[in-house]
Amino acid sequence: MSSEDRTVSPAAGGAEAGGTEDGRPKAAPGTYLPGDLDREARLARMLRVDHAGEYGARRIYEGQLAVLGRSAAGPTIRHMHEQEAKHLETFERLIVENRVRPTALQPVWHIAGFALGAATALMGEKAAMACTVAVEEVIDEHYARQAEQLEEDQAELKETIETFRAEELEHRDIGLEHGAEETAGYETLSGAIKAGSRLAIWLSERF
Ligand SMILES: [Fe+2]
Ligand SMILES: [Fe+2]
Repeated sequence: MSSEDRTVSPAAGGAEAGGTEDGRPKAAPGTYLPGDLDREARLARMLRVDHAGEYGARRIYEGQLAVLGRSAAGPTIRHMHEQEAKHLETFERLIVENRVRPTALQPVWHIAGFALGAATALMGEKAAMACTVAVEEVIDEHYARQAEQLEEDQAELKETIETFRAEELEHRDIGLEHGAEETAGYETLSGAIKAGSRLAIWLSERF
């Protein structure tokens, strides 16, 4: 794309101070740059997939709690569920503030997340923990990549993502401490859950 295509000159209406008619803050003089639309689209995609991911994570833990809520692992799973609920709340606020539509696949993640949590929990506490480890490893990679892509003036979002990423890693460690790797067929189970999680990320970014 050529830079002439996107550059808006101050004379063309980009430079007056104050808000625009639709109430959105107006760019300061000289801040309309080629690529701004791409940046907005990139941010929307990020917020959409993160919102979807945290939604799915909360549902996974709800599925686990439905099966293991009263077991010895209950309080541990409940702790992780509470953190996911806070992550989700944050992204719910951010998609509203940034006028980003949530993924159209939310009803799918509602069912698939719960089913994944419940199914692994039915295989036992260790399999549930293996599910947590696999999902959190994928989310860790995902958040690390996003944090790298964010620009200097997006420091607040970057900090949020880094905070959540640290908590996802805490969940992974909890899973490992609770014997995730002792699950029968751990590598296969983990590989399948990771592949599914990556597919869910890919889909939620686009739909
Ligand atoms: Fe989370
Ligand atoms: Fe998590």
